[in-house]
Formats: sequence, structure tokens, C-alpha cells
Amino acid sequence: MSKLRLGVNIDHVATVRNARGEGYPDPVRAAEMALAAGADGITAHLREDRRHISDADIDALAATCRKRGRPLNFEMAVTAEMEAIALAHLPHAACLVPERREEVTTEGGLDVARGHNAIAPLVAKLVDAGIRVSCFIDADLAQVAAAKSVGAQVIELHTGAYCQAVRERLPQAAALLQNLKAAASEAHRLGLEVHAGHGIDYETVKPVAAIPELMELNIGHFLIGEAIFIGLGPAIQRMRALMDEARATRAA
Ligand code: PXP
Repeated sequence: MSKLRLGVNIDHVATVRNARGEGYPDPVRAAEMALAAGADGITAHLREDRRHISDADIDALAATCRKRGRPLNFEMAVTAEMEAIALAHLPHAACLVPERREEVTTEGGLDVARGHNAIAPLVAKLVDAGIRVSCFIDADLAQVAAAKSVGAQVIELHTGAYCQAVRERLPQAAALLQNLKAAASEAHRLGLEVHAGHGIDYETVKPVAAIPELMELNIGHFLIGEAIFIGLGPAIQRMRALMDEARATRAA
């Protein structure tokens, strides 16, 4: 089984900065630390309302990742504004996400099946520009097929419902993990690269990381929270070790 990559989402460093309207803490410094601690890439979501990451952060993160030769995964809504920003920066990857102004976080996956007519031309432009495009979707076989049909090369499976069920000790956790496994297997069969993310912590990372088709996890909020207690580098190193353990157990 190939090594699972870790993308660290640094959005919430910007959330803390913006709480005071100051320049500290700096998401670029967090990105540098994350890469030094074993992250394979950096993920950032420029939201329409700019509640955390700013346009200037994207400029700086794109430059930092380019300088370090590491991938920037640009999370973006399906809008003309975000399309223009992605094409101006040419990040390694773009992940298409749904966005509603009133949501606290990305609550569900993108409805690729319903949005086909808006999503397919955007995917074509991004792919033509050399950007690897993923669709952030729920673990639903119809959405996997739709992601393939719009021309995405990658899907990112939304692990939020599973992680929440585990945290709240809900009986449906096992079924939700099963859905993730089935969606990963179907995507792989269709030739899509499979990623996963949202809500992952030290407890949920191992069952997710053990899904053999997965190539990348994107983790943010928990790591930034844990950084308050043990530091960003050690939090990432622990997450990385748990991912590697899950893969080693699976391979054994
Ligand atoms: N992947 C995607 C597409 C996301 O939108 C997010 C949240 O911004 C994450 C991964 C990371 O989720 P979390 O911050 O809950 O770890």
C-alpha cells in the first residue's frame, strides 16, 4: 500500500489571527512549521466571506509552497471569483467545496450530480491550466460517479459525519465507515484518486487511514486546537505516526 499523504489545513490559524484583527498568528509560519513537522502539503480554503484565510494569505502560501516545492491544495467554491483566483495562482491542486455563508464549516459534500452544468466547465478550465482537481463529496456512489463524469481526477470523501458519530458514540458510526470504504473502492475502480478529510482527530484517523484506496488526508481544526496544548509540530508528528501505524497494521 502506498504511503498516505498528510495535508495540513491552516485555516484556523487565520481564524485566531482575525479574532483580534492583528497580523498574529501568521498562517504562513504555521505552514512552514507544518511542512517541517512532516506534512506533505498545505491546504487552505479562501471562503467567499474571507472569514479566515485572506487573499493576501493565498498569495503568501502559494509563494511559500512553490519555494519549498510542496503542494498547495486550494479549497474553493464553484464561483467565477474563485476560478479567477485559482487560475491566477495555479496551485498544485484545487478542491471544489460547497459553501453557504451561514454555515460554521463545510457541512456536507458538494452535490456534483446536481451541479454538473456549472462544475464540468470549471473542472475543464482548471485541469487545462494544470491544476489537479478534486470534488469534496459525501460517501455516496452517485456522487462518486458524478465526480468522474465532470472530469475531476480526485475525490475527497467528507469524513465529518463518521467522525462526529464516533465522538458522540453513536451506533451508526460503523455504517458510516462502511460507506466511506464503499465509496473509496468505487472511486478507485473508476480511476479516481481518493482523499478524505473533515473532523478527523487522533481517534478517527486510524480507521480512516486504514482504507487502502486512500492517498491523502486533509486535517485542520483538530491539529490547530491540539497545537494550543502540545505545539503544532508535535501534534502533526503524532497524527503522522497514527496514520503510519494504521497503514502498517493494514499491510501486516
Ligand atoms: N477537507 C475539506 C474539503 C475541508 O473543507 C476541510 C475543512 O475546511 C477539511 C478537509 C479539514 O477539516 P477539519 O478542519 O475538520 O480537519
